[in-house]
Amino acid sequence: GFNVAPLLKTTGNVAYDPGFMNTAATKSAITYIDGDAGILRYRGYPIEQLAEHSNFTEVTYLLIHGELPTPQQLSDFDNSLRRHTLLHEELKSFFGGFPRDAHPMPVLSSAVSALSTWYQDSLDPKDSAQVERSTLRLLAKLPVLAAYAHKKSIGQALLYPDNSMNMVENFLRLCFGTAAEPYELDPEMVKALDLLLILHADHEQNCSTSTVRLVGSSDANLFASVSAGIHALSGPAHGGANEAVLKMLREIKASGITPDAYMEKVKNKEDGVRLMGFGHRVYKNYDPRAKIIKKTAHDLLAKQGNNELLDIAMSLEEKALSDDYFISRKLYPNVDFYTGLIYTAMGFPEKMFTVLFAIGRLPGWIAQWREMISDPETKIGRPRQLYMGETARNYPGV
Ligand code: ACO
Repeated sequence: GFNVAPLLKTTGNVAYDPGFMNTAATKSAITYIDGDAGILRYRGYPIEQLAEHSNFTEVTYLLIHGELPTPQQLSDFDNSLRRHTLLHEELKSFFGGFPRDAHPMPVLSSAVSALSTWYQDSLDPKDSAQVERSTLRLLAKLPVLAAYAHKKSIGQALLYPDNSMNMVENFLRLCFGTAAEPYELDPEMVKALDLLLILHADHEQNCSTSTVRLVGSSDANLFASVSAGIHALSGPAHGGANEAVLKMLREIKASGITPDAYMEKVKNKEDGVRLMGFGHRVYKNYDPRAKIIKKTAHDLLAKQGNNELLDIAMSLEEKALSDDYFISRKLYPNVDFYTGLIYTAMGFPEKMFTVLFAIGRLPGWIAQWREMISDPETKIGRPRQLYMGETARNYPGV
């Protein structure tokens, strides 16, 4: 046991809540989740309606500004984003310094962090004009940086953004196009990626968003806060899950193990194996995003013929949904169970999956950071602890 009494005497009551399972760190008006009912809404709009009728640029505006834009506001916003895509030429040389086999997530995070050295006139969170500038710059430049991280990892030359294209189109061209020939956009792929980005755009106080808020609570600038959020997202228990799902599916396929036998391993917790893409801290029901994405996965992959990995995924899902181990623990597929398969079908390597998540989550990070800096109740984030170490003791010989 530990001695709480002295702690209480000196510091008052503290709540011990590992993982903040029951602690609301903030009030927020951005995203509503009912994990038991499987409900997700951005600014009050159900995710299903936004997925069907909106697009990523509009959802970005909605999350950040609180209301859907008028057609004029949307067009102005879109134009501003297109105008801010170019990177400082010297910033591009940054990419040459990383090893060729570097994972694109730390490359992206470093590049976002470095924005604060090139764009020093947009660092002050207390200056609203600077906040607007850093918002637009980050929204426009992060997808370009992400595409460059990819190009770097495959050893191809970096292209300049083409501002006749919107963000999603530009990103695909910067990733898959070459200077040698024009890049032909596949409208189905553009639509699918746009949808995936909408589904990832915010998810209230998840690990990376809480990180962005915590870092920003010290008045650190937007680039620094989001750079930290990208690192938080890189872990396999968070954004790295879609990469882990695909690795799992590939391992199952390569080893020849049946989905049934794999499920037994998971249930027996052999070597700590988990069914990746299943379970969620908040959803104790089907993740509404997973429902939407499952259909896209089928449509897109069906075009490419038989897909053994999709078959394995569907078989695992079917078994889990009728298995008492998963039912009793309320473990359902989360958004990442199918995203890796879709990204693969689009031609992205596994290492890029979490980067794609970061592009999607960016509007949420920015909206939450802006909400925090404009909230008069914000305090610097500073959790307490229960000290479990040695009591006072003397240095040897004293
Ligand atoms: N496979 C097998 N068992 C699981 C899984 C899983 N994917 N997830 C949870 N469990 C079990 C745990 O072993 C535990 O069992 P026990 O009660 O017998 O000890 C029980 O369910 C509760 O698990 P916790 O780890 O306490 O749940 P928590 O809410 O802390 O974890 C998490 C949520 C991290 C997402 C977890 O479900 C997990 O590791 N899933 C796999 C990774 C994943 O898909 N992450 C993506 C998250 S969503 C996102 O970032 C978009």
